[in-house]
Amino acid sequence: MRLNNKVAVITGSGSGMGRAAALRFAAEGAAVVLADVNDTALDEVCAEIDSAGGKAVSFRADVSSAADVEAMVKAAEDSFGGVDVLYNNAGYWRYAVDGYQVGETDAPSPLLTEDMWDRTIDINLKGTYLGARFGIPALRRRGGGVIINCSSVAAFRVGHGASDAYTAAKGGVLALTRSLAVEHAPENIRVNCIVPGPIATPLVERMPAEDRDAFAKYVPLGRWGTAEDIANMALFLASDESSFCTGQTFIVDGGYLAL
Ligand SMILES: NC(=O)c1ccc[n+]([C@@H]2O[C@H](COP(=O)([O-])OP(=O)(O)OC[C@H]3O[C@@H](n4cnc5c(N)ncnc54)[C@H](O)[C@@H]3O)[C@@H](O)[C@H]2O)c1
Repeated sequence: MRLNNKVAVITGSGSGMGRAAALRFAAEGAAVVLADVNDTALDEVCAEIDSAGGKAVSFRADVSSAADVEAMVKAAEDSFGGVDVLYNNAGYWRYAVDGYQVGETDAPSPLLTEDMWDRTIDINLKGTYLGARFGIPALRRRGGGVIINCSSVAAFRVGHGASDAYTAAKGGVLALTRSLAVEHAPENIRVNCIVPGPIATPLVERMPAEDRDAFAKYVPLGRWGTAEDIANMALFLASDESSFCTGQTFIVDGGYLAL
């Protein structure tokens, strides 16, 4: 029970890595605030935690909306008395919407529509900023706490369908992590960033199965990661086991970036 008496807010927890972290955190004793734009998915995860004997509430929030994120933090404080862990996991990758080809290098940025640029930056980067903006005062009220951000291997390597806005947004998340960590370390607030490699979640389910299989050759460990692989890292970062870690980037990619 590494998160006993802790309250954790997890964005994008209706699916994939956010869902896996929510289940894991609840099993380790945390009261979890599930936040997502997908109400149905939230209800399902909430019921799953409930039936396993854990504590969770769900809250519909779009992380790119300041009003929603402020209300999400307030809902956490109202429900469980405070916030100890904020996991800014929600993200958006346009290939999940528009289709994906292995080996495809993304269209050059001039072909990216301004709408798509804005949406990608707003959810991935501004959403992380808004989490910090409203989450840090809540962590401060508890005498400290933890923020976990979510970047991507796309911030380091362009290609395989990831570049332009997504790469810029996820690179921004790395830089924002370092900046927040240094600024808020004196308040006992630790800020770290997970860099997932290829992880089999609903985000990438639209890829054709043969492309998914082919992608594994870019991963030295020879497989796609699981949402639980990331939840294990998130649990380490949320718990006191990582008490001397801040401002850091934790790559969980099966060796993808080492290749
Ligand atoms: N799956 C991968 O291979 C991979 C690799 C690197 C990074 N990532 C990042 O990991 C994170 C989790 O991705 P996943 O694979 O679990 O995706 P997923 O699609 O399974 O889950 C993402 C969840 O975020 C929610 N969401 C989307 N936009 C939102 C918004 N504006 N506000 C609130 N919630 C919103 C979705 O409804 C969904 O439930 C994302 O930040 C993603 O960019 C994923």
